Amino acid sequence: MTDTQATAAPLNTEPSGDVCIRMLAMPADANANGDIFGGWLLSQMDLGGGVFASKIASSRTVTVAIEAMNFRKPVFVGDLVSVHANLVRIGRTSITVHLEAWVLRRKEVQSILVTDGNFTYVAIDDHGHPQAVKAADAPTRAT
Ligand SMILES: CC(C)(COP(=O)(O)OP(=O)(O)OC[C@H]1O[C@@H](n2cnc3c(N)ncnc32)[C@H](O)[C@@H]1OP(=O)(O)O)[C@@H](O)C(=O)NCCC(=O)NCCS
Repeated sequence: MTDTQATAAPLNTEPSGDVCIRMLAMPADANANGDIFGGWLLSQMDLGGGVFASKIASSRTVTVAIEAMNFRKPVFVGDLVSVHANLVRIGRTSITVHLEAWVLRRKEVQSILVTDGNFTYVAIDDHGHPQAVKAADAPTRAT
């Protein structure tokens, strides 16, 4: 997918899926322009998706890939950021989750989709080796 195609993907009009993490964007997370770092938002999405995937796998997971990442709108200090997770696929050892970050800005009532992407996690054992996801026991929701 090209950059043009990625940013042209249709915008959802409201969040769907489980909220896996929610936080306030703080001044320490901002760049010199006063906007929030993309890397901060990416790490919040990765954390939330990891919680979601680990619950499904009933084990530790590590991030193996991040794909189709779109940064659609800026995030500002004071925005309430919610990351929503939807299960895409359970493989043998991997779990792919579609994550969307939505923000509620101060004095606004409608959430805005700011970023989205597909995050793939691998279930690992105590030695960091991939282990099979117990798909038969896996819930389709993390909460
Ligand atoms: C994740 C890790 C344990 C996988 O080990 P590995 O020996 O490469 O394992 P495999 O080749 O058997 O792949 C495991 C699964 O990951 C999937 N996978 C591997 N690379 C992938 C990629 N780039 N995109 C999507 N899925 C991928 C495989 O398809 C496989 O899925 P399946 O079992 O459901 O079919 C290893 O690569 C690792 O430790 N990476 C570092 C993880 C990490 O530190 N993340 C944080 C980065 S800051």
